[in-house]
Amino acid sequence: MKKQKYLHGYDPKEQQRLIHQALFLEPYVFSGIDLEFTNNVLEVGCGVGAQTKIMCRRFPQLKIHGVDLSPQQLEAAKYYLQDEITSGQVTLQQQDAQKLKLKGEKFDSAFICWFLEHVPQPLTVLKNVRKNLKSGSKIYISEVFNQTLFLEPYSPAFLKYWFEFNDYQCEIKGHPFIGSQLGNLLQQSGFVDIQTEMKPFHFDSREPKKRSSFIEYFYQILLSAEKSLLDNKRIDQKILNEMKKEVQAVKKSKDAVFFYSFVRATAKVP
Ligand SMILES: C[S@@+](CC[C@H](N)C(=O)[O-])C[C@H]1O[C@@H](n2cnc3c(N)ncnc32)[C@H](O)[C@@H]1O
Repeated sequence: MKKQKYLHGYDPKEQQRLIHQALFLEPYVFSGIDLEFTNNVLEVGCGVGAQTKIMCRRFPQLKIHGVDLSPQQLEAAKYYLQDEITSGQVTLQQQDAQKLKLKGEKFDSAFICWFLEHVPQPLTVLKNVRKNLKSGSKIYISEVFNQTLFLEPYSPAFLKYWFEFNDYQCEIKGHPFIGSQLGNLLQQSGFVDIQTEMKPFHFDSREPKKRSSFIEYFYQILLSAEKSLLDNKRIDQKILNEMKKEVQAVKKSKDAVFFYSFVRATAKVP
């Protein structure tokens, strides 16, 4: 089997971005996530442990088993989560979620965030996760829906860059629009009581500080793929420079608008 490609790469700057991202989006990603009466949760695609740490803080009774494909991410997670690992709250394991094999007790809940977009076979992942959950337990998924990104003023180089970002992710068998498909995927993998909800970020002159922090946050996501897009000739230096200029212009515009929506899905094991 071919080695799976990963859009963002694994360098320390990217690992730091994941930690910043999780803290920045915590109020949105964790709204409606209730793990208070849950004993053990399976976190698939845990990365460097950015969401794991937040779950530990919010739900101190929880035991979390984190799984990720990348040894580099898990190495960083071991460092970031050293207290939680020492106390026994977190265990980590290297596995491809598409071939998930877990020993021991089944889990009360599953948590997935910004992960299914990166796997070639998200349906297989969800079927595997379901097999490892107890009957009646709940899965929480937060995923991208990149079609929803909108910036005002009109920024053509930014749009070109964003097209290449998403198209390249499709080429490497990722799913940049997967938020829209979560209902279908959960149904096909045997979950019930499926709920999906758009979680929009819509900022304009009414909240200028939030607007500029979201534009900057998204700019960092775009830049996280810069190397992959340049190496694969998806963009050239000219488009990159123009995109950077446009983002700065949007940031300065008093009429700027930022819109993006991710999708939250929840479902139960019958
Ligand atoms: C964008 S990161 C998100 C990490 C974490 N959920 C968060 O929100 O910070 C996606 C993670 O999925 C992992 N990943 C990609 N393909 C995988 C697979 N087939 N099995 C398990 N993990 C995988 C990557 O190594 C990466 O750590």
